[in-house]
Amino acid sequence: MAETNAKASGTFKIGGDLEVNRLGFGAMRITGQGIWGPPEDPAEARRTVRRVVELGINFIDTADSYGPYVSEDILAEVLAPHPKGVVIATKGGLTRHGPNVWPVLGRPEYLRQCVLMSLRRLKQERIDLWQLHRIDPKVPRDEQFGVLAEMQKEGLIRHLGLSEVSVEEIQAASRFFQVTTVQNLYNLANRKSEDVLDHCAANGIGFIPWYPLAAGNLAAPGALLDTVAKKLSATPSQVALAWVLKRSPVMLPIPGTGKVKHLEENTAAAHLTLSDEDFRALDTQGREAWKQQGQRK
Ligand SMILES: NC(=O)c1ccc[n+]([C@@H]2O[C@H](COP(=O)([O-])OP(=O)(O)OC[C@H]3O[C@@H](n4cnc5c(N)ncnc54)[C@H](OP(=O)(O)O)[C@@H]3O)[C@@H](O)[C@H]2O)c1
Repeated sequence: MAETNAKASGTFKIGGDLEVNRLGFGAMRITGQGIWGPPEDPAEARRTVRRVVELGINFIDTADSYGPYVSEDILAEVLAPHPKGVVIATKGGLTRHGPNVWPVLGRPEYLRQCVLMSLRRLKQERIDLWQLHRIDPKVPRDEQFGVLAEMQKEGLIRHLGLSEVSVEEIQAASRFFQVTTVQNLYNLANRKSEDVLDHCAANGIGFIPWYPLAAGNLAAPGALLDTVAKKLSATPSQVALAWVLKRSPVMLPIPGTGKVKHLEENTAAAHLTLSDEDFRALDTQGREAWKQQGQRK
């Protein structure tokens, strides 16, 4: 059997010119409980990051608020000198007041500080992909988009992305800069961003689904995901990832973990071939489950 490599997931060009293997890595889990402070097992977190690159993953998602700073610091330390061809996509625009507490702050001077400090921590001269973690409803959104466009013109940022946005918000930001990626909650069982995904696919915008491993009740023993997984000698998480990858060529999933074993298992999903029939059956059940939940999330 071929060695596990994220290349098997295919490639996508962010902004039309920055090529990455579609299956990436989410670096939120290399921090402490509540995404606060250092990880419980720092050595394992560092081993995980080293293994990320060995497995051919060249798209890593992080944020200044993970830790805060812990995730960016570990990435910079372990990956130094920054390996050529590895894209570190970071985010800013949230503050941290404790475990699981994430107040939004989109004042232009703060967004500028976020970018400048991420550059310093990541030891880079330009950030490959910087994403606005949330649009701050307390600050005129044009001011937030405007300062990002300015920093891109100054050469601090190569590509810009958004997170947790609607189609209308993507269109509003597009008047200021090219929106190259959108990062929204999406998985087999959470379909709130179906319209955003379709908009991204139609416009060549990378769609980064966060929480991609979740599948709700579909993963229960005896349920469809479990049955398909057994048939393919895979785990339900791997099938959930393979499904997300097959859903659209603009999909860039970033499963997150702080454990080498889980990373290896997740990356192996790049090699899984889901039949059209299984894909459609899972799709139908996922949409049904989402409707039954009352589309709450
Ligand atoms: N834009 C946003 O607002 C936003 C919000 C949340 C997350 N994100 C990004 O999206 C990435 C992914 O999201 P996520 O971490 O919430 O969700 P996820 O990748 O779907 O799931 C991660 C969880 O599953 C566990 N896990 C991972 N692989 C596993 C495996 N093979 N077997 C069993 N358990 C496994 C992890 O714990 P272990 O560490 O124990 O493996 C962790 O608790 C994050 O890392 C972050 O970069 C973005």
